[in-house]
Amino acid sequence: MNNLKSVSVQVVNSDLALLLPNGVYEIKQMESKSSRLKQICLFCLALCIFGILGFGYFCPDKVCALSSRETVYIEDSIGKPLAQSRTKVGLSYDDMLNDDFTFDMDSHDVIVFLHMQKTGGTSFGKHLVHDLDLKRPCTCPISRKRCYCFRPHSNQSWLFSRYTTGWKCGLHADWTELTSCVDEKLDELENIVKRRYFYITLLREPSARYLSEFRHVQRGATWKGSRHFCNGRLATDKEIPPCYKGDNWEGVNLDEFIKCHSNLAVNRQTRMLADLELVGCYNKSYMAKAERDRILLASAKKNLLSMAFFGLTEHQKISQYIFEETFNLRFAIPFEQNNATVSSYTLSTLSSKQSEAISKLNNLDIELYNFAKKILFQRFEHLKSRDADFEQRFKNLGVVSGKQSPTEFDWDKLEDPTESP
Ligand SMILES: *[C@@H]1O[C@H](CO)[C@@H](O)[C@H](O)[C@H]1NC(C)=O
Ligand SMILES: *[C@@H]1O[C@H](CO)[C@@H](O)[C@H](O)[C@H]1NC(C)=O
Ligand SMILES: *[C@@H]1O[C@H](CO)[C@@H](O)[C@H](O)[C@H]1NC(C)=O
Repeated sequence: MNNLKSVSVQVVNSDLALLLPNGVYEIKQMESKSSRLKQICLFCLALCIFGILGFGYFCPDKVCALSSRETVYIEDSIGKPLAQSRTKVGLSYDDMLNDDFTFDMDSHDVIVFLHMQKTGGTSFGKHLVHDLDLKRPCTCPISRKRCYCFRPHSNQSWLFSRYTTGWKCGLHADWTELTSCVDEKLDELENIVKRRYFYITLLREPSARYLSEFRHVQRGATWKGSRHFCNGRLATDKEIPPCYKGDNWEGVNLDEFIKCHSNLAVNRQTRMLADLELVGCYNKSYMAKAERDRILLASAKKNLLSMAFFGLTEHQKISQYIFEETFNLRFAIPFEQNNATVSSYTLSTLSSKQSEAISKLNNLDIELYNFAKKILFQRFEHLKSRDADFEQRFKNLGVVSGKQSPTEFDWDKLEDPTESP
């Protein structure tokens, strides 16, 4: 017991040293990367101008139109494939604020929604395809069971998510899976083009999320379709021993759920946001537990910061505002704060021993969530301070003039029955 506790304290401390307050280590790394990137960009720019001028003289219109288009992409370093971009997840929130930025739906920008179980991602995913005020709204033909969210002038998707592309990188794919898969999958669906990626996600208060997952599993959910793909292979049963025999864990009680050591509900958010290749994927003997935990947490924090957007389930309105300001898009509906959720009901019925055990198990997620909360409010304050219309805007969040209320459709018909949500 004592031993465990000291481990968790250690995790927090050394992790803070890694990232905070000045994040010396991390920032240094990022700076050197970005200055190298700048050099490469300048070089490419010079090369391109030279190339475009040169080609302009010598070649027939059709060929030139193609080749200069291609080079222009490289020149402004936009839409590079994942493997070559600065970070694996494309543009971060800071990039988007600092540059004179617009989300360019019409050419090569793609939003990738990293949807972690029981974080409210289902309603958010629906808002994305259903409620954004767009020049060309998504269409959701019932026959297809998914939506098309196409760019205004081409039939290419600007959104990689469950309701558009489906679980193309595995059910509830995590950071490790998405970053090694999205580009390839979109190349298969569309032509091979260079794209610029914007990762987004939602986080939820860890105990509430854990309990919500418990209730879901108790009702029979398994997420068997999740692949846990990392470093070129799937995790084995030996690495993640199943918590139950048979088809599912229906009827499990909370104490059993807590007791299973390989339960992926534990610190799910940290694991799903971390770069698992850093810790030997699901191979727990690759490094000591304390080290593994420390790296997972630091990596999850870093990846969270390098995403374009994250929201918190507990702060719907603020999350909506930050999303809209960052992407310069508007939802035609106010996000709802559902207070009386199933899991808050469960939370009040726990014994103190159970709730302590849950907090202790999810110590990494709790640290990650507190970190996220701090950043969320910093961003909110900053966006607020530069928004002259803030009061009006915030009061009328979800009201878009000239847009009639969206047509209702039957979401159940859009869900794929073979996949647990
Ligand atoms: C784009 O998709 C729409 C259906 O959503 C279809 O009617 C149209 O023909 C497609 N256009 C192209 C160029 O494929
Ligand atoms: C797990 O890691 C250990 C230590 O690095 C290594 O010896 C072992 O082969 C790995 N197991 C698998 C299945 O890769
Ligand atoms: C949820 O709680 C907040 C603050 O506790 C309150 O302002 C809001 O009206 C509640 N929402 C609902 C739908 O009950």
